[in-house]
Amino acid sequence: MNFSNYAEHYSSQSGIVQLMEDLSIAAPEGTTLFPLGGGNPAHIQEVQDAIRDSAAALIGDANRFARMIGDYDAPQGHEVFRACLADQLSALFGAKISAEHIAITNGSQASFEILFNAFAGEFSDGSWKQIALPIAPEYVGYNDMSRQDGPILKSTAARIDLLPDRQFKYGVDLTEFSVDSETTGAVCLSRPTNPSGNVVSDEELSQVASRCKAAGVPLIIDGAYGLPFPGMIYAEATPFWDDNTILCLSLSKFGLPGVRTGIVVGPPEVTKLISNANAINGLAPARTGPELVLPLLMNHRLSELSEQVIKPHYLRKQRLAIEVMMSAAHDLPVRIHQPNGAMFLWTWFEDLPGGADELYRRAAREGVVTVSGRHFFQGLDATWQHANECLRLNYAGDEDTVRQGIERLVAVARQQYLEK
Ligand SMILES: Cc1ncc(COP(=O)(O)O)c(C=O)c1O
Repeated sequence: MNFSNYAEHYSSQSGIVQLMEDLSIAAPEGTTLFPLGGGNPAHIQEVQDAIRDSAAALIGDANRFARMIGDYDAPQGHEVFRACLADQLSALFGAKISAEHIAITNGSQASFEILFNAFAGEFSDGSWKQIALPIAPEYVGYNDMSRQDGPILKSTAARIDLLPDRQFKYGVDLTEFSVDSETTGAVCLSRPTNPSGNVVSDEELSQVASRCKAAGVPLIIDGAYGLPFPGMIYAEATPFWDDNTILCLSLSKFGLPGVRTGIVVGPPEVTKLISNANAINGLAPARTGPELVLPLLMNHRLSELSEQVIKPHYLRKQRLAIEVMMSAAHDLPVRIHQPNGAMFLWTWFEDLPGGADELYRRAAREGVVTVSGRHFFQGLDATWQHANECLRLNYAGDEDTVRQGIERLVAVARQQYLEK
């Protein structure tokens, strides 16, 4: 097939392509599969029940159901859902947010494709601007988003603070990170962060936000795991918003990755751009997510379930994962990132001969699927040894899978350490 240059934007070498393909990987012959790789959230019974009840009510309402499947939505997305969410976000942030400030997309991943290309690349004065990530490692899905002739990401390597109990925490290196409006179109960070489970502190976030504001550069906060839903934050952290912020939310980690719903909250000129992109690229965003979730938003079950069910669920899973990792790797130079949010154990195999890529490959042959850390260090100038020593494990799976998966992974790592 003879593709144009544009097709190069969809390279199968992309980390996110590998990650999504690994979600449907089959176990190697004669082995059991331990999927600790991709970003599937847990199937939590109480959440599933609430969504199923909502679906049953929707099917029982002939009019609503007919509209959901039979009509295109407005290109900016479901009006009533946007108005209701706007009220709740106004209360959360103590700000005046209206339906105009919100646009729906077919998943956050789709939101980032539009935002990154709208704020970075070539400008009318001939300048080239980039999206600055204040911390690398960052979400692998930000990579390969450029639909223009050149890379659009630049990152600042994280500061590493070593903590007790064989933990560490990434911080924004404020001596290295700067916002220059000549070269930076927008700044973006995920809070909580995929892959590390980091939650950037209030103080650091306020520093980043004020540098953005002073430079007149928007700050994109990726709240896919944050507040108000799914609320996977296990540390003190104040939700942040100001008129220079674009907040990206998603229904995926609440438990609906299959319906593909992303939410962009930002100034009306940004949400209008998203709306136009929706119309041009796909006519309209899907109605299914907003329709299903609207009743749960209206009666506040969405935030209740997030706080009272989802958060404790993942905290239990996290405790197990840490306990198993610490016990299995007690004799190895292994550290984990302080898990303050999301659903990942970000593990640092210090000085591992052959690195984490090799560990990823060997573990996959034994049926243990993980994600090699190097994919998450996009946009860095220099190669950094640390980037070759980390691995991301998703602990959302059932107890046996997580326990056995981690134990097997560590056994493979121990063998690899012996090859020094
Ligand atoms: C930090 C982060 N942002 C955005 C996304 C994209 O989510 P979705 O496109 O399912 O809304 C993910 C998915 O794993 C993520 O981890």
